[in-house]
Amino acid sequence: MIFSGSHSVEKAAKLFLDLRTKYGKIMRQRIGSEHYVFLFDPEDFEHVFKAEGPYPYREALHIVTTYCGRNNRPIGMNGLNGEEWSKLRKPTQDKMLRPQVVTKYLPVINQVTHDLVTYIESKGEIQDINKLMLDFALENAGILAFNKRLGLLDTDDKSSTLKEDFGVFFRLLSEHFFLPPLYKYFRTPFYNTFEKAANGIYNRFDKELEAVKSEMESSALKKDESITEMQCKSNTLHEYYSTSRPPDFAKELLADERLTEDYVRGVLLDIFIAGGDTTYVVMGFNQVCRDPEIYSNPDTFFPERWQRGSDVRVRSPFALLPFGFGTRSCLGQRFAEQEIYVCFAQIIKKFEISLPSDAEEIKYVHKLFAYPEKPVTICFKTRREICSNRYVYN
Ligand code: HEM
Repeated sequence: MIFSGSHSVEKAAKLFLDLRTKYGKIMRQRIGSEHYVFLFDPEDFEHVFKAEGPYPYREALHIVTTYCGRNNRPIGMNGLNGEEWSKLRKPTQDKMLRPQVVTKYLPVINQVTHDLVTYIESKGEIQDINKLMLDFALENAGILAFNKRLGLLDTDDKSSTLKEDFGVFFRLLSEHFFLPPLYKYFRTPFYNTFEKAANGIYNRFDKELEAVKSEMESSALKKDESITEMQCKSNTLHEYYSTSRPPDFAKELLADERLTEDYVRGVLLDIFIAGGDTTYVVMGFNQVCRDPEIYSNPDTFFPERWQRGSDVRVRSPFALLPFGFGTRSCLGQRFAEQEIYVCFAQIIKKFEISLPSDAEEIKYVHKLFAYPEKPVTICFKTRREICSNRYVYN
């Protein structure tokens, strides 16, 4: 639990701002038996990141460790530290962070994005854009983990249980920071709801992993046959498959001698529950991003500020680190960035985007991440290309 009293999960950002205004750019607070340091200066962020050493410490998500303990599930990389974390991180980052590997996923991500565009086109108006983007991100994570489509963007809603489980899982994960951790000692109703959703997700994972394993076994049996088959194929095709095909990530992990099957299971789960760490040093990125000493006119939408040579300076490169920094930074960064660029390009190319005429101002709440306070409806109007650089509406 981080805070209690009048500060709810939604108001964490407001609490941080109050702390920053009252005590300045660095402050310490004791909460129960734990000490927290709050930082609001990017130069201090830099000192902390650079002093982390080879094994940066991250506190595990308590509700996840409780769940894993009770259900005999492996804890993923997110919850490990020291050499144990490093043993998992090294082989995984070799397979995930190299640009050559990530670009091999481009054609598949393009396909998933194409399905997203088709889905949006069939609806015209999306009533909860956040939810749809979560399905899109998870569909891409499924590709990375299992080389397989999970069907989260299908219109027939066959995978609605999985979607619901993910929704509940992430919501309760955010909320658990702000609750007394009674779930550690008793199966509270909150915990039971979390466990039910987590079981749905973990069971599906087990099924996918079993399928990968049996595919590996049968392809090992057919190895000779497939080599002969390959020899019959033309060189060009062979080259295409060996250079452009996305790697079979789960298989590569399972085949890596440095990793046990439990570790592999943990890594694959992490891919879905990514970025959900909490640390005792709390860095107020949100407040820094609104600080006029760091960003000129922070509340103005002015993307040009990021261009090289812009007059509007951003004071420190450590002021905005959405993927973290250093040896413990986000493993999915390149994958996520590629996904965002492809999605953005395809959507902008296809649609003119607007808010409904009666839309209210969008307010944010801060849970594990920043979310819109209420579901946001977005209207999409299809563009029709009439010449290379002009579009009209259908
Ligand atoms: C816009 C999307 C994303 C953002 C902003 C993001 C951000 C982050 C952040 C801030 C961390 C923690 C860094 C730290 O503790 O210092 C993290 C960790 C992690 N992320 Fe992401 N992430 C994103 C997407 C992804 C995706 C798509 C994947 C998987 C494909 C992923 C996999 C991971 C993993 C495995 C870790 C744990 C790394 C470790 O403990 O060594 N992330 N992410």
